[in-house]
Amino acid sequence: MSTASSMPEPASEAPHGPPADRRPLIEVDGLKVHFPIPGKGLFARGGGVVRAVDGVSFAINRGETLGLVGESGSGKTTVGRAILRILDPTEGRVLFHPETPRAGNGAGAGGPVDVTTLKGERLRRFRRHMQLIFQDPYASLNPRMTVRDIIAEPLEVQGLLKSKAAIDARVREIAGRCKLNVEHLRRFPHAFSGGQRQRICIARALVTQPEFIVCDESVSALDVSIQAEILNLLMDLQAEFQLTYLFIAHDLSVVAHLSTRVAVIYVGEFVELAPTRRLFFQPMHPYTKALMSAVPTVDADAAFDPIALQGEIPNPADAPSGCRFHTRCPYAQPACTIDRPAWREIAAGHFVACHYAEDIAAGHLAPNHAPGVAAE
Ligand SMILES: Nc1ncnc2c1ncn2[C@@H]1O[C@H](COP(=O)(O)OP(=O)(O)OP(=O)(O)O)[C@@H](O)[C@H]1O
Ligand code: SF4
Ligand SMILES: [Mg+2]
Repeated sequence: MSTASSMPEPASEAPHGPPADRRPLIEVDGLKVHFPIPGKGLFARGGGVVRAVDGVSFAINRGETLGLVGESGSGKTTVGRAILRILDPTEGRVLFHPETPRAGNGAGAGGPVDVTTLKGERLRRFRRHMQLIFQDPYASLNPRMTVRDIIAEPLEVQGLLKSKAAIDARVREIAGRCKLNVEHLRRFPHAFSGGQRQRICIARALVTQPEFIVCDESVSALDVSIQAEILNLLMDLQAEFQLTYLFIAHDLSVVAHLSTRVAVIYVGEFVELAPTRRLFFQPMHPYTKALMSAVPTVDADAAFDPIALQGEIPNPADAPSGCRFHTRCPYAQPACTIDRPAWREIAAGHFVACHYAEDIAAGHLAPNHAPGVAAE
């Protein structure tokens, strides 16, 4: 693959491995995650809520990589963690559709698992099916455990394999698939480089044979050449184990290379979701256009007017009314400050939340000179 610093050809289907099966593995419906802001003082009644994720609905198809992009603080990590039930959603549902009911996956007779309602032992046993690969391989590995024990731990916690010999065999197998050798298993994490540590994290995530992985900025902390190695490994593993990924990243070139489809999030709300090629070359939402305009090689070929993104992302504890992008949008109209745009499918598989997406695309609406100033 090309390195993460240049813009690769966006993928319209999964670039490696089998084409994404269009049946959903994960269905997210009206997901909200609100964090209470604690008030100060003994009798404080609290200071409102941070609407980190505020009503998102989407599906992730079996075998695909759904990219998730947006500025810092837009809610990407919170979406991933709520799907995995590392965080409890405030509202909404997350459904997991297993291929076949399997021991311990919580599915009834072929039906989906409602991940949002799992509790206690059922939730604990379900965790093997959905795993997380973090951004920071330095922080996420226990420095006092050997690599063998780090990779084996999820198997032991889940009680999936009883004998030490069976666990060792499974650890050796998955370590090999992640290009770690037997010698590495005896060492401690400090002996490894960033790329090798991320291989250890990936092996640990895959050892329970999950179907779904959230990769949260999984290559962002690595050097560009190492990023390419890890991305290739993730794509090879996806093909080998029929994995489904939610791939969260700031770097749009990385997302373009890896993703079947891409979703764009802004202040806790999805603003656009489309097949990767379409999103990069025909974005319909002004915020997506602004993000794409920052990628020079997309801008040169794309059929959209570039938009410079100005100002800061609003605080989700005090989100703008109506369309949350209206304070920065050069096309904002009076209605944009009042009415929340509907999430609608404007072409097959292309969803957008903007009142004026078609008018902007057709050139019927000129940008205001000052972004966010409503036209007369
Ligand atoms: N536990 C928490 N308590 C209160 N607010 C939180 C908590 N976790 C996240 N937030 C807030 O929720 C919003 C979304 O955070 P999140 O980490 O999901 O964003 P992000 O898109 O992943 O950002 P980044 O790109 O910087 O990782 C931010 O305003 C953040 O400060
Ligand atoms: S035109 Fe209005 S609805 Fe569309 S993105 Fe801009 S502010 Fe939002
Ligand atoms: Mg994050």
